[in-house]
Amino acid sequence: MGTENKQKIVVAPSLLAADFSNLEKALGYCNNSSATWLHLDIMDQQFVPNLSFGPGIVKNIRKHSKLFFDVHLMVSNPFEMIDSFIDAGADGISFHIEASESRFTFPPKLIINKIKRANLLCGIAIKPKTPFTIIKKYMDLIDYVVVMSVEPGFAGQKFIPKSIDKIKEIRSFIDEKNLTDKVSIQCDGGVKLHNAKDVVDAGANILVAGSEVFQSENPTEIINKMSQV
Ligand code: DX5
Ligand code: ZN
Repeated sequence: MGTENKQKIVVAPSLLAADFSNLEKALGYCNNSSATWLHLDIMDQQFVPNLSFGPGIVKNIRKHSKLFFDVHLMVSNPFEMIDSFIDAGADGISFHIEASESRFTFPPKLIINKIKRANLLCGIAIKPKTPFTIIKKYMDLIDYVVVMSVEPGFAGQKFIPKSIDKIKEIRSFIDEKNLTDKVSIQCDGGVKLHNAKDVVDAGANILVAGSEVFQSENPTEIINKMSQV
């Protein structure tokens, strides 16, 4: 049994898994569902072996949705991209600690400050093999932790079961430090209807779901079902 999770569950459909020939339709499924967040995966083919979309697309779709735009930066140099995503209409931005601690980029605190100064929510993402301990020192500065439950880069991968233990560890830390109302745990990758309850029971309160939502006949229904696990 995991720690009981008292936070509200947010489902964040990941647009990466949608049909890009009809984004308006994909957004419609989300707008008309119980989702309150939309997850936007930004990939630079450097930090991850894939390329997705940039601030131009985010700015375009901003006109078609009032959802909270959750930008997940899977890029080698997050600091330099922040302004353009703020301008495009992001409401929250997460960046990877693995990128920000490389010698090519800026220290995490600078990135966090830049996001927070613009009044956005700030998240730190960790890859499956990155231990939570690395980001402990930033926990009272951020709004959410993104636990990657697949290797970042592609939608449609299989959930890595060990992620459950990592979520539990982070949930214990958050609750012990009285950060429960301040810091959320987002689980990203391979989240499906069949494992969403395990993820929530472990302590996550933001569920990112890409292929489960957009490969279904009725994405709105999947989102609504997932919000109720
Ligand atoms: C993976 C992305 C995820 C992905 C989720 O690099 O960060 O957000 O799109 O898609 P599914 O739910 O299909 O794993
Ligand atoms: Zn993501």
